[in-house]
Amino acid sequence: MWDATEYLRFAGHRGRPFLDLVARVPAEAPASIVDLGCGPGNMTVTLAERWPEASVEGVDSSAEMIERARTDHGAAADGRVRFTRADLRDWSPTDPVDLLMSNATFQWVPGHLELLAQLVAGVRPGGWFAFQVPGNFGEPSHTELAAVCEQPRWRERFAGAELARPWVAEPIEYLERLTALGAEVDVWETTYLHVLQGEDAVLRWISGTGLRPVLDVLDEQEQAQFTADYGARLRAAYPQQGFGTVLPYRRIFAVAQVGGVA
Ligand SMILES: C[S@@+](CC[C@H](N)C(=O)[O-])C[C@H]1O[C@@H](n2cnc3c(N)ncnc32)[C@H](O)[C@@H]1O
Repeated sequence: MWDATEYLRFAGHRGRPFLDLVARVPAEAPASIVDLGCGPGNMTVTLAERWPEASVEGVDSSAEMIERARTDHGAAADGRVRFTRADLRDWSPTDPVDLLMSNATFQWVPGHLELLAQLVAGVRPGGWFAFQVPGNFGEPSHTELAAVCEQPRWRERFAGAELARPWVAEPIEYLERLTALGAEVDVWETTYLHVLQGEDAVLRWISGTGLRPVLDVLDEQEQAQFTADYGARLRAAYPQQGFGTVLPYRRIFAVAQVGGVA
């Protein structure tokens, strides 16, 4: 389902929340770091640069993403970075890690609130668990997508297809769940105003993420018809201005220090 090249098109904008998240992790010299849902690995390698003594493992369930990560970054940081294909729902380390990261991934894992205990158990006492999820599913980028899918023609076409639908909890739920697991927790949210360049910028942005599960069900001709309709709605919702197209994007962050004896 993932197209690494499409995803990397807005790498600078997509990377910003990852860097803002890492900036709030006060770990001094973690020896082991895991990045769940590492995608094409371009942000995973920044962890090895930030913590020069750490060995870093990126984990992703997409064969295409892992292949791209290995090709582009497999030799980075003197061999301290490696990439493994696995489903994060099955992840559990041999030894608890010092820092567990996940950026823009849990929204694709339904029921991830129930996974938090398992994930926290994979971090050593005193270690850190940090993640970020989008919180923009009420924005036109998603409501217009749902509206097009609901048109009779497409509703019929999608009948029976299992469309992956992104889902996240509200910030307070992450705070409460992680605190109940004995962690010290910092949760916050930010709305970025990404200024995107070029024609149909929002359509191109979402083609690398939320639109993929929908397009995967359609043949080429249908994809063109679907994106023509959806693209027109996006142009109305996000008008192109002289300086670019503004995409407001809310994101939810959590940094937890795992409890227990360090
Ligand atoms: C939006 S991308 C984020 C990539 C990267 N973390 C970044 O910040 O650029 C989401 C990634 O999560 C991965 N993913 C989705 N569900 C997953 C799962 N259950 N286990 C592991 N990876 C998963 C996808 O393959 C994709 O590479």
